[in-house]
Amino acid sequence: MKASEDQVVEDAAAYQDDDVRIKPSCYNMADIKKLKSVGICTVKGIQMTTRRAMCNIKGLSEAKVEKIKEAAGKMLVRGAFTGVNSLFCLLTLQVFHITTGSLEFDKLLGGGVESMAITEAFGEFRTGKTQISHTLCVTAQLPGENGYSGGKVIFIDTENTFRPDRLRDIAERFNVDQDAVLDNVLYARAYTSEHQMELLDFVAAKFHEEGGVFKLLIIDSIMALFRVDFSGRGELAERQQKLAQMLSRLQKISEEYNVAVFVTNQMTADPGAGMTFQADPKKPIGGHILAHASTTRISLRKGRGEMRIAKIFDSPDMPENEATFAITAGGVTDAKE
Ligand code: GTP
Ligand code: MG
Repeated sequence: MKASEDQVVEDAAAYQDDDVRIKPSCYNMADIKKLKSVGICTVKGIQMTTRRAMCNIKGLSEAKVEKIKEAAGKMLVRGAFTGVNSLFCLLTLQVFHITTGSLEFDKLLGGGVESMAITEAFGEFRTGKTQISHTLCVTAQLPGENGYSGGKVIFIDTENTFRPDRLRDIAERFNVDQDAVLDNVLYARAYTSEHQMELLDFVAAKFHEEGGVFKLLIIDSIMALFRVDFSGRGELAERQQKLAQMLSRLQKISEEYNVAVFVTNQMTADPGAGMTFQADPKKPIGGHILAHASTTRISLRKGRGEMRIAKIFDSPDMPENEATFAITAGGVTDAKE
């Protein structure tokens, strides 16, 4: 439907002032498809990709890249909240949600773990952070709602608790080929916080190389190595600075390649809590830096037996509800009453 596609592009252009009008010839569906094919899905994504990298995309000439860059630049200057939306929609691959394996839990998250965002799950030991991570490795590969096709996963393990055998059990529950599931999970062990940051270069390269194929990046846990590498109060400022860099990188990766980023986090005793009548004297580590970077924060606590309770922790667009789920041999499931 060439005519109507052109109309959409023209409509998008019409939002712009005369002086920053995006000529329909700069953007057409074919170019947008080319950009999407390598994982550039948003105007921001265009800005975050160098001209040289864009010229390497098959079918995009240097002149074309220049035009696209110029148009994207003007749109962002104009403000991300007004007329940009229409073209933004054109460029944005649909945000998708990856099921947790529990309908209750998914409902709490507005459909599951969201793409183009960082979801953080924190809780005390054995609250299920690693088990949720394992379950997501499998469910990310399954076709889902609203045309979600499923895709590959990268798992960064900082605590040496990744167990491929768990993936086999979970794959069995979902009736999918165990070897295929394992093949689709790229695993990397991070040994220091520096190494963890370096691995993100590899992640971005991989996401770029196999555009659109990867759907999920997991870091279990995000803070463990920072905690070891920066001990003591004197090193706190440096730790937070390095952490901020890592989170900004993660945010960019999630948006540019339209992937979900799922990170786990630990808790620590709140030294100030003893002085107050606070009900829960523990809090997630990482301070304001992590609190602000996470789009959705889930606090986890233990229930009876296999039961676990998840609660949304200060989310901008979701109420602070709770969901009960269970950890079974087949991974995360709904709790049976
Ligand atoms: P830390 O990393 O120690 O902070 O904990 P965590 O929050 O990552 O906990 P994890 O996800 O490792 O959850 C551990 C819980 O999952 C334990 O209560 C185990 O009993 C349960 N679990 C782990 N494997 C299995 C399994 O194969 N079957 C069942 N039913 N439960 C399991
Ligand atoms: Mg764990």
